Amino acid sequence: MATVGIVGINGVVGQTLHKQFAQITVPFETKTFGRQDKIPALDIAVLCTDNPDSVRLVSELKDRVKYIVDMSAQYRQDPHVPLVIPEINPHTITKDTRLIASPNCTTTGLVMTLKPLMAHYTLKEVFFCSYQAISGGGKKLLENFHTPGSLYENNCVPLIGSVQDNGYTSEELKGIYETRKILELPKIKVYPHTVRVAVENAHSLGVSLRAEQPFDLEQVKKLWNDFPNLTYSEEIKTPKQISGTETTYVCRLRRDVEDPCIIHYFITFDNLLKGAAMNARQIVQLLLEQFV
Ligand SMILES: NC(=O)c1ccc[n+]([C@@H]2O[C@H](COP(=O)([O-])OP(=O)(O)OC[C@H]3O[C@@H](n4cnc5c(N)ncnc54)[C@H](OP(=O)(O)O)[C@@H]3O)[C@@H](O)[C@H]2O)c1
Repeated sequence: MATVGIVGINGVVGQTLHKQFAQITVPFETKTFGRQDKIPALDIAVLCTDNPDSVRLVSELKDRVKYIVDMSAQYRQDPHVPLVIPEINPHTITKDTRLIASPNCTTTGLVMTLKPLMAHYTLKEVFFCSYQAISGGGKKLLENFHTPGSLYENNCVPLIGSVQDNGYTSEELKGIYETRKILELPKIKVYPHTVRVAVENAHSLGVSLRAEQPFDLEQVKKLWNDFPNLTYSEEIKTPKQISGTETTYVCRLRRDVEDPCIIHYFITFDNLLKGAAMNARQIVQLLLEQFV
């Protein structure tokens, strides 16, 4: 029977992925690994670890693990590594693929709403401002959040990741470059602004999108509702309401007051599920069905 390992079982993504594995419909054996454990030969390993740990693990495991799925940002821009959301670009995994990257959580929510529109609209530029939950920063940030006097208590903090020489944060640059790679739209302009807010779980984004053609709002809603794991809601959806669910929700769709080629909308989704562990579970299912 195929063996699938979760590396980083004590982190928030590792824990969530362990529960997600119950939904995989192909038989396999789960193995879990913390920092001190020796990892044997496996069919698939999902690295629920940060960049430097993932680099060490990929180099250590590449000769004894057939397929590695990495949750960190380390390999996402490598042209030889597919950056996969199974609803969007499963075709980028081929028989020669050995390492697969799972995208940034905020980017995942955004591109889930952009991909279905590409069937009818030529997307030109997208602005977003994120409202990112504490759980997106892992277990240490969750512990910090629950400590009285935390910076994140009753607050919003406009800095996620590290500030780069050009003034962007690393999180914002992921929003630009991962969107282009996943959608295979190297020229789409992305204007990101990422903010951590005092919400324990589930990310949100306010989005403004410009296409070449005028938008038909009813068609946009239909395209979203026909796409897997995506729902347009006429009622507002908030992170508190949808935390723990697998659907990416869109609400508040409206056409720009002046330009019919621009729409504005709000997205909310569970960053630990579709933004991380659910996406990894879908990749593992695909690998087990088609490649292992
Ligand atoms: N949180 C999200 O919403 C989210 C979304 C998308 C992507 N991601 C990415 O997913 C990865 C994991 O994130 P997270 O939020 O789960 O972080 P986390 O809560 O900090 O968990 C990371 C875990 O990795 C473990 N670890 C480190 N090196 C290891 C090794 N060599 N062997 C086994 N375990 C090791 C750590 O062990 P210790 O417990 O011993 O420290 C820790 O439990 C990160 O790359 C993150 O960027 C996270």
